[in-house]
Amino acid sequence: MITVHIKNKNISSTPPPGAHVYCIYQDESVDAQIKALSPVQQSIESIAKARHFKGATGEILSVPLSAESYTIIVGIGSKNKQGFLCIESYRRAVAKAVRAAIGLYAPSLHVTLPDAQLFNCTSDYLVEQTTIIAQMSTYHFDTYITDTDRKEHRINDLYLMTDHSENSSTQHAADKGFMIGKAVNQARHWIDTPPLDATPLFLAEKAVEIGKKHNLTITVFNEKEIIAMGMGGLAGVSRGSDVDCQLAIMEYKTTTPNAPTIALVGKGITFDSGGLSLKPAASMETMKDDMSGAAAVINTMEVIAQLKPHVNVIALAPLSENLPSGKATKPGDIIKFYNGKTAEIKNTDAEGRLILADALSYAIKTYKPDAIIDIATLTGACAYALGPYFTGLMSQHDELAQRIEAAGKKAGDPVWRLPMTGDYKKAIASDVADICNIGDNRIKAGAITAAHFLQHFVGTTAWAHLDIAGTAFDVPNIPYFRSGATGAGVRLLIELVLTWDKKD
Ligand code: BES
Ligand code: ZN
Ligand code: ZN
Repeated sequence: MITVHIKNKNISSTPPPGAHVYCIYQDESVDAQIKALSPVQQSIESIAKARHFKGATGEILSVPLSAESYTIIVGIGSKNKQGFLCIESYRRAVAKAVRAAIGLYAPSLHVTLPDAQLFNCTSDYLVEQTTIIAQMSTYHFDTYITDTDRKEHRINDLYLMTDHSENSSTQHAADKGFMIGKAVNQARHWIDTPPLDATPLFLAEKAVEIGKKHNLTITVFNEKEIIAMGMGGLAGVSRGSDVDCQLAIMEYKTTTPNAPTIALVGKGITFDSGGLSLKPAASMETMKDDMSGAAAVINTMEVIAQLKPHVNVIALAPLSENLPSGKATKPGDIIKFYNGKTAEIKNTDAEGRLILADALSYAIKTYKPDAIIDIATLTGACAYALGPYFTGLMSQHDELAQRIEAAGKKAGDPVWRLPMTGDYKKAIASDVADICNIGDNRIKAGAITAAHFLQHFVGTTAWAHLDIAGTAFDVPNIPYFRSGATGAGVRLLIELVLTWDKKD
């Protein structure tokens, strides 16, 4: 984990050993921008020229100044029509610089923050985003690698060089960014952990650990209790597995009177084989990631518990394996959920909606939230529709959808809304039960028909569904991700909750 320090960028002393990172953009001459740096860094001007460095997005140039000191310049592109630089280009530039510094075995990283006005944002936001991205860029899942040569060099200190080092809000922004980056990486770590170890009980215990550490109220129901409560969806999915399912619930209560309550529900299938509707081998390879929604909500709560927003937040994580066995739920079975509704199971691989159905109904009945958001690696269809760069958002509540879109954009964890009109609803009709767990083939739109299934369990409460099947794992070409888990949804949910009362 990186320790973050704030420093005044105008104090000119000999730069300490480490990688010194500067951002260069395209709308002003590269020469002029390099000349504005400290005298030591100016020596790279001719090298930048010789290498045709233009400041375009994705460009990077590292120049050694001594055995332990480097100057790294990264391109952040050109201004848009409104005259502003793109914050996502900046995030990726920071990530590239961090990756380069790791490769160079740099002892520390010194990032000179660009002028926030260039991005039309505050300098605190830039501090926060830089801290988050620097942390995310150091993530490497190496727990199970025994060859020490394959461990990556760790950078221990991140120095943020800014004009605003005296402001107390700057330190707060760095602390907040640190917490968020840590939460994202912890979610990634659990998701990457093999399903042999990351079991339903393991995740429930993590929720308990976090709850104890930060004074949250925690409830964990085991399989026996889940069956007794009538949660036929969660119990039905777990039936084929040898390990118990769990329902972990974390409650954060604000001291602010009459505050609204938000419920977050995360899908926690610790391995999805498809059940008796067995997946083909290749589709099963990454199915340890099917608890990414649960990892997102549990880790979001750790940040919420520390930053104490003026809203009540409840996180619910239904946790189970989905495996075939002599006891497993079969296509043709009909199950009954916590809210009394029934569903015909035509395909046991459409299991996420079954465990979410019980958790959503329980949350609505028990906590009467003002808004409820679920997050799940729910459908391959969503991954096909949007690819790995946008999480699918489905909601019939425009105001909530707009809040989520805005939070996703601000956090760099973007969503794209799919329509949820009534025509799609007919896809999940059943002749023998209230609804069917897969959609009619002629209607297709599997991401949307899955959302309509969930709609049956939220009543009239403002609800939104986030499908992270495409964004949770193996996202290519973004330098702060690598193969494996991304932590999709963590930054979005934190931003959404923390800014909830800032809107009218
Ligand atoms: N966990 C999968 C969805 C998924 C697919 C997540 C790819 C991440 C990457 C989910 O449980 C599932 O299997 N859904 C089925 C639903 C179908 C049977 C209606 C799917 O998408 O194929
Ligand atoms: Zn499945
Ligand atoms: Zn699944």
